[in-house]
Amino acid sequence: MTEDLKTRLAKPRFPRSSQYDPYWIVDNLMGPHVLWLAEYLAEKLPLRPGMRILDLGCGKGLSSIFFAKEFGVHVTAADLWIKPHDNQRRIDAAGVADRVTPILAEAHALPFAHSSFDAIVGLDAYQYFGTDDLYLGYIAKFLKPGGHIGIVCPGLKHEIAEPPAHLKQWWEWDFCCFHSPEWWRHHWAKTGLVTVEAAELMPDGHALWLDWYRATLHLLKGFHLDAATSGIAMLEADHEQLFGFTCAVARAKGGDWISGNALDIDEVL
Ligand SMILES: C[S@@+](CC[C@H](N)C(=O)[O-])C[C@H]1O[C@@H](n2cnc3c(N)ncnc32)[C@H](O)[C@@H]1O
Repeated sequence: MTEDLKTRLAKPRFPRSSQYDPYWIVDNLMGPHVLWLAEYLAEKLPLRPGMRILDLGCGKGLSSIFFAKEFGVHVTAADLWIKPHDNQRRIDAAGVADRVTPILAEAHALPFAHSSFDAIVGLDAYQYFGTDDLYLGYIAKFLKPGGHIGIVCPGLKHEIAEPPAHLKQWWEWDFCCFHSPEWWRHHWAKTGLVTVEAAELMPDGHALWLDWYRATLHLLKGFHLDAATSGIAMLEADHEQLFGFTCAVARAKGGDWISGNALDIDEVL
């Protein structure tokens, strides 16, 4: 069974992720296989040793550990639901305590100085707060000029006006935060703050999502078992018509974040 899980999760497409203990990934899952999403995103970011990265909505910190180990970057692992002491145990066990710092943070009240990070990443998390029109203007302040923001989220091939008939049975209201690559491109580009470098559906994302659920189903319980069971039924019914993972990457244009109508309260007080 151990070998079976390892074999099923080892993908030539993701040589780095395939080196990690599959049970560590399953034990700490909060959604789809986060290292696949992280490895894919990393291909689009100029990560170099010593860079400072914010992993926003890092959950149990697997992607933060991955970025630190694989690219030698310093990661601030920020999350709301998972407490820092819980993530610290995983970070210590992974031997990257010198490069990964867990913090408790709410995405709208981040405790950083402006221009703190070379890159901000969000994996299956940014859709929970980043669809607000004004959010990019807030988060981009924490990027150094020329720094990158990169996200991979559950997403759609194209925008929809209402839940599609073939998926109604499984539709949850909060899927309304799933968007197409073109939606994310316009959402960010129209601020004028960034240059969008990529907006695409992850190649084979739908199939990878199904593979992940099918390979891990027998190990899951409770909420995760229910989510995977209905996830499989929904993705099978979808036949790759709508669901996938949306990736967007943009580069910050400059450092003058205080222009426009979105007031920065720190600057005002
Ligand atoms: C589906 S989980 C994904 C976690 C992790 N990135 C992964 O893929 O395993 C979404 C994460 O987003 C975080 N999150 C949601 N809303 C947030 C907010 N307003 N501020 C900070 N984190 C938030 C949650 O704490 C949660 O850990």
